[in-house]
Amino acid sequence: MVCVNLKERSYQIIVGKNILSSLGRRCGALKLGSDVFCVTNAFIRSRYGKIIDDSLARQGIGCRFFIVPDGERSKSFAQCKRLLGALAGFDSGRRVFIAAVGGGVIGDLAGFCAAVYKRGIPCVQVPTTLLAQVDSAIGGKTAIDLPEGKNLVGAFYQPRLVVSDISLLATLDRRQFASGMAEALKYGIISDPRLFSLIEDKAGFLGPDDAGTLRVIVEACSRIKAKIVERDERDENGARMILNFGHTIGHAVEAAQGYGGYTHGEAIALGMLCACDISRKLRMLDEKSACRIERVITGLGLPSKISGVNPAAIAGPYSRDKKFKGQSRLVLLAGIGIPRIVEGVPFALVKEVVRKRIA
Ligand SMILES: NC(=O)c1ccc[n+]([C@@H]2O[C@H](COP(=O)([O-])OP(=O)(O)OC[C@H]3O[C@@H](n4cnc5c(N)ncnc54)[C@H](O)[C@@H]3O)[C@@H](O)[C@H]2O)c1
Ligand SMILES: [Zn+2]
Repeated sequence: MVCVNLKERSYQIIVGKNILSSLGRRCGALKLGSDVFCVTNAFIRSRYGKIIDDSLARQGIGCRFFIVPDGERSKSFAQCKRLLGALAGFDSGRRVFIAAVGGGVIGDLAGFCAAVYKRGIPCVQVPTTLLAQVDSAIGGKTAIDLPEGKNLVGAFYQPRLVVSDISLLATLDRRQFASGMAEALKYGIISDPRLFSLIEDKAGFLGPDDAGTLRVIVEACSRIKAKIVERDERDENGARMILNFGHTIGHAVEAAQGYGGYTHGEAIALGMLCACDISRKLRMLDEKSACRIERVITGLGLPSKISGVNPAAIAGPYSRDKKFKGQSRLVLLAGIGIPRIVEGVPFALVKEVVRKRIA
């Protein structure tokens, strides 16, 4: 168990195997409400709906499932409106709360709806992808997208509880699993050399059904993210910035592909490699560490070359970055576990490095 200590907004992250059936008991203990609006997808509903329903019923909590279509496109005003309408129809005036049972898309959408419905109702995150367990379910960032860009409409809204059941990960496909591992690796690279070494040792063999190892990884990542969020809940003092390692260039790669080409984790794996390349060029990072990172990334089945994108398309969204002025602020590396926020990285250097990574 990991605690996120944020005074009256503190909450626990429970990590374990086969713990979905404890959801009702945990929600009951927190007195979150008497009805839960359970936002999920069709697959999770059909596979785990009964476990969830039974677990809540045992506590006398009424449950209504709401199915969201898969894909980033569901982080939209249209889905938000549909969800809030159905929630209002379900809300009988007893105390209602939301459970977000799914990947980051469902977590972000349902978390945002929880933040705005009646000016805020409790939200429980039950992340079902590795990426959501190590990252998106923790920290209170909720959002939907606009055609103009990702996550442009959102709120900081901490969940009341996070239940990360490792056993749910067993059905993830290879790409989704690797995508989550990219994010887990990021935590190792920016703050935990032991976590990095664990992933390095297992990279070629680790699969979604290795619950023992995944439990260690998810718990380690949750602990790191919790500590960073505690220091900078609302992204105000820069502490959260190191979580962006690999993300500035990664987001640009994602956007250049029009979202849907690379998974988020694949794009940030490429972003992390570019950040390592820049760190090398600036003589901050030794060659051995850079090679180790690249080997782990390829060992996890993540790309090391950017394909299907032209460099200008990457430069476009990158240069729209809010702080862009011909140079940029990037999270770079001085070693594994030693991130550095570097101001004034020349855009020409970023372009050069990205060009070299293009297949
Ligand atoms: N709020 C944050 O702090 C934060 C942080 C990182 C990412 N995000 C957001 O998270 C989203 C990406 O999340 P994601 O990678 O989880 O993607 P996702 O939610 O789209 O899920 C990926 C796919 O996995 C499937 N899936 C979910 N659980 C499964 C299971 N147990 N078994 C088999 N398949 C399953 C889903 O149906 C979906 O098709 C992005 O929108 C990103 O912006 C948010
Ligand atoms: Zn990310």
